[in-house]
Amino acid sequence: MESRTRRLRTRLSAVRPPTFAGRLHDPRTATAVGRRLGAAFAVCFVTGLISHYLQHPPPWAADRLPSRPVWGYRLTQGLHVATGLAAIVLLAVKLWAVYPRLFAWPPVKSVRHALERLSVALLVAAALFEVLTGLLNIAEWYPWPFSFVPVHFAVAWVAAGSILLHVAVKAPQIRSHWSRRSPGTLALPAADGPDRRSLLLGAGAAVGAVTLTTVGQALTPLKALDLLAPRHPDHGPQALPVNRTAAAAGISRELLRDWRLEVAGPVPYALDLAQLRELPQARARLPIACVEGWSVSADWGGVPIRDLLARAGVRPGSAAVRVVSLEAGGAYRVMEMGRQYAQDPLTLLALTLNGQVLSPDHGFPARVIAPNRPGVLQTKWVHRLEVL
Ligand code: HEM
Repeated sequence: MESRTRRLRTRLSAVRPPTFAGRLHDPRTATAVGRRLGAAFAVCFVTGLISHYLQHPPPWAADRLPSRPVWGYRLTQGLHVATGLAAIVLLAVKLWAVYPRLFAWPPVKSVRHALERLSVALLVAAALFEVLTGLLNIAEWYPWPFSFVPVHFAVAWVAAGSILLHVAVKAPQIRSHWSRRSPGTLALPAADGPDRRSLLLGAGAAVGAVTLTTVGQALTPLKALDLLAPRHPDHGPQALPVNRTAAAAGISRELLRDWRLEVAGPVPYALDLAQLRELPQARARLPIACVEGWSVSADWGGVPIRDLLARAGVRPGSAAVRVVSLEAGGAYRVMEMGRQYAQDPLTLLALTLNGQVLSPDHGFPARVIAPNRPGVLQTKWVHRLEVL
């Protein structure tokens, strides 16, 4: 028995962790890449929160959400997806730079060390989960049994918390390797410089390539370079993309045959399409900005929602509105719009797009278009407005 234990001990002491001679797997590289990765995650986190709370505002905030600037959501969600894609490259480089640390020997030195390693495992898992689910989501592929939105949102908090913890744990190293003038840098061998510059330059070039070939889905002057994004801003009915077609939403000709807009308020009324077209019409140039990152501006024509509410006996700015679509189901069949949106003169019940009658896929006969609003809340095939 004793000799067996001795043999096991000898064998264990013969196990050697791999040694890494590469000069790029050092704290200076981890810090340099970490800074950029941290910035990308910070932008993703803040813009993700904006998107989440615009879509699911807490009750006290619903009437305070600002409807300006008109391009607000276009900018924040475009940034969210662009920095998320950039983070995939940076995360790969960062994990490559630090992976020898994962073979550090002995694997666990103390309870504190074990906890630290556990937090690193959580950090890596949460970061990978966020970028990969985000990527698959913009490709509209959902190979998982859970609902994307709440899980992506919850894990974002885990990622943010574990990044803060990680930065706190590594603070001494980060401080001494933060800039070229940091004292830690002076101790590095001179030959290390060009290697690291090449790595950072390569990572920067990869981020640049990914950004340039995808950002045109939101930044229309670069749309000619939009080769890798799942959407092109010009592709779709009436030269504008759609996520949910009329067929997918179960909208048929029969359903639309007796279509009338019902407005439920102090003075309820209903109008058919011809009557709606006879009301004073307004025009607005507004973007459709999708949660998946693509966005396009278009000219919309229709009746301001606030005029429709005034006709129902609502004082200007005094009510929010619930919008109901003809869709048979779906998470966004019923949408609520706070007072700021409902009273904005640019918030329309749109009947035309770029001067043409809306196509079925864009929500014929009537859809909502409002400034600074996620695309999923620009309800299509509207048939009822309820004053709240
Ligand atoms: C999503 C964000 C991040 C991920 C997934 C990540 C991942 C990792 C991993 C797996 C390690 C090795 C763990 C260990 O040493 O036990 C590490 C080490 C390190 N990270 Fe990060 N990190 C992130 C963000 C950051 C940020 C924002 C900074 C600094 C601004 C940073 C600086 C460092 C430093 C200095 C080390 C130690 C490297 C060494 O000792 O060789 N990291 N990181």
